[in-house]
Amino acid sequence: MSTSRRDKVTIPEIRARKGGAGRDAGRIVALTAYDHPTACILDDAGVDLILVGDSVGNVVLGHETTLPVTMDVMLHHTAAVARARTRALVIADMPFLSYHTGSADAVRNAGRFIQEAGAEGVKIEGGRRRAPIVRAIVEADIPVMGHIGLTPQSFNALGGYRVQGRDATAVDALLDDARAVEEAGAFCLVLEAVPAEVGSLITRTVSIPTIGIGAGSGCDGQILVLHDLVGLARTAPARFVRRYADLSAAMKEAVAAWSADVRAGAFPSDRESYASPPELRERLEGAREKARS
Ligand code: KIV
Repeated sequence: MSTSRRDKVTIPEIRARKGGAGRDAGRIVALTAYDHPTACILDDAGVDLILVGDSVGNVVLGHETTLPVTMDVMLHHTAAVARARTRALVIADMPFLSYHTGSADAVRNAGRFIQEAGAEGVKIEGGRRRAPIVRAIVEADIPVMGHIGLTPQSFNALGGYRVQGRDATAVDALLDDARAVEEAGAFCLVLEAVPAEVGSLITRTVSIPTIGIGAGSGCDGQILVLHDLVGLARTAPARFVRRYADLSAAMKEAVAAWSADVRAGAFPSDRESYASPPELRERLEGAREKARS
């Protein structure tokens, strides 16, 4: 892991990017990754922050929600991603029940992401209710990324995946949540599925950078699930996704072409096969001749 690179993205640099300021002026670019090869691509492409999201549950493991995702699953995927990192900041999502049972459990589990998996910080869903947990983890010198708005781990409590902050009371609650997470010491804040005006208002209210996903263009950065961006999902993407590639179609085409070649005996060719040493080739040819006669 070459974290000594001079352009390595750090927590203070992400903090300093509030309002497009800082060394790499411009909005923060963040994406999810769950495995080593895609994390290499994101790191090489200059993405600032790679989130090992618990969306691995839906996106990679085929669950309907993120709720079945465990610490073991997240540690496994985070370690694979962290081994790819040279420049990007790698943040691990704390899964359901890994921080809900008290500060001591939360700090211990957050620490495992740093110590065992090589993450540089963790993400926690929730606002005021989770602020004491955020504070305890930050006090253990583990950077925390907050996450409010649509929090997928609250799937059952919210009654599904719904846009949040749709009335004045809900907006006030979101502002209180944002301030609480900021005061607890989070270094940035994910805003998910809120109206664009609400995303802008929260961004103007807090001094830490906001990173939006379905929260409009007024945030200090944007994050998407990589599989949505590159068209690697079977289901239709959410309204806030823009697809930049159709890798499912490209992969299906490649698999179909290889299958046709295999069925027709056109794969592998000689170039794709190992040649025998000359003396063995002669013996094999001799044996073949003998079998023919
Ligand atoms: O789990 C995840 O991928 C996330 C992001 C989409 C913010 O929480």
